[in-house]
Amino acid sequence: MSKDNSNFFEKKKIWSEVKDELLDCYLVPYFTKMMSTGKPTLYVDCFAGKGKFDDGKLGSPLTALQSLGRSLDRCHVRKPAVEMKFIEPNHHKALNANIPIEHRTRCELIEGRFEDKITQVLQNANLSNFKLNVFLYIDPYGIKALNASLFDSLAKACSTAELLINLNSFGFIREACRIMKIIFREGQVEIFSDLEEYDSSVLDSIQKLNAIAGDNYWQEIIDKYSSGKIDGYKAEKKFSQKYKEHLRQSYKYVLDMPIRLKEGQHPKYRMVHATNHPDGCVLMANNMAKRTDRLVVEIQDGGQLGLMPLTAENDIVSDDMLLTRVEAMLATTSDYVRLNEFLADFYNENGVLCGISRLSSGKGGSALKTLEKNGYIDVQRNPALTQNGKPSKFWQESKGNTLSLRKRK
Ligand SMILES: C[S@@+](CC[C@H](N)C(=O)[O-])C[C@H]1O[C@@H](n2cnc3c(N)ncnc32)[C@H](O)[C@@H]1O
Repeated sequence: MSKDNSNFFEKKKIWSEVKDELLDCYLVPYFTKMMSTGKPTLYVDCFAGKGKFDDGKLGSPLTALQSLGRSLDRCHVRKPAVEMKFIEPNHHKALNANIPIEHRTRCELIEGRFEDKITQVLQNANLSNFKLNVFLYIDPYGIKALNASLFDSLAKACSTAELLINLNSFGFIREACRIMKIIFREGQVEIFSDLEEYDSSVLDSIQKLNAIAGDNYWQEIIDKYSSGKIDGYKAEKKFSQKYKEHLRQSYKYVLDMPIRLKEGQHPKYRMVHATNHPDGCVLMANNMAKRTDRLVVEIQDGGQLGLMPLTAENDIVSDDMLLTRVEAMLATTSDYVRLNEFLADFYNENGVLCGISRLSSGKGGSALKTLEKNGYIDVQRNPALTQNGKPSKFWQESKGNTLSLRKRK
């Protein structure tokens, strides 16, 4: 059990591994795509840590440097600049020592606190020319440094902006209860045990909580919790939903992956991803679905594969349920829509219920393949024919392959 973050870097825990896999699997295609836009990219690890855990495993800044290296190997076009900045106040020296020589020219280490440094970092990157792609990785110990107005303004100020946030939603509920003078009824041991991304310092005002959440919607949730209308689990879920809704005012697509280690247990925290690009949303959704499988299968079930696939919320997702949800989504579209936009809207609305194979590209079939076979949808593919002159059948968009669909009229 831990309610202290002093041992965080001693040994890399499984959920830290899952977090870094989420980052790595997203960043390789992300950097590749951004480099192909010809616009510069700024990647900031806002709570960078030591770079390496004491057991030798890589931390997030080294993971991101490796991802960039892999993207550069794949990139055959002229390589526009990708700037990597790592902000860290406490382990700056260790981080500096842990960055391999070959990566040193690719990154800058910034000694200090995120809240003191980020504005300068963004200003130096010439955010105002609207030509910058920015990705912020935000992995703090607690919630104190989250800054909703910064996240909102970033989306407006640059060519593309993306966020991956470790949201300690229970930490927020606990602080909100404290400030509203309401007893936090949940077992602190159960919720915060093993959680080394823990910040025991306290917040001192409603305004600070509003600045973190982006608004005061959380107060109604705490009122309901206080009156016993909802329990702590529901309060956490509602807060996360509202937090995502707030982000959606600036980012069209916002997904989250609850990190929970045992069935029925509260999430330790949620990884929240925000982007305005449908391709980014679909990529992250598929990535989250894969990491969820790892968490659910390898950790929660002790390696036993369950009979029915589960989401990170431990919900069973049957094929019938997927079909019904896809049909409901199709009913809201009258015109042709690109596959990736459809999938991104689906994930944005329904959460990460499954990977893209069960929705579209699965070799053994998928919800959309079934609907195409049944004549429920019209599908337009470009190119319409394969090189052998046969009708195209692909169900995944890629460079040169596009697909649009609509409900048959
Ligand atoms: C959860 S750890 C980050 C781990 C890192 N992402 C990894 O996977 O290797 C949080 C880090 O934030 C640093 N930190 C604490 N307060 C900070 C602040 N105000 N601004 C930036 N970093 C801070 C801590 O020293 C710690 O290294």
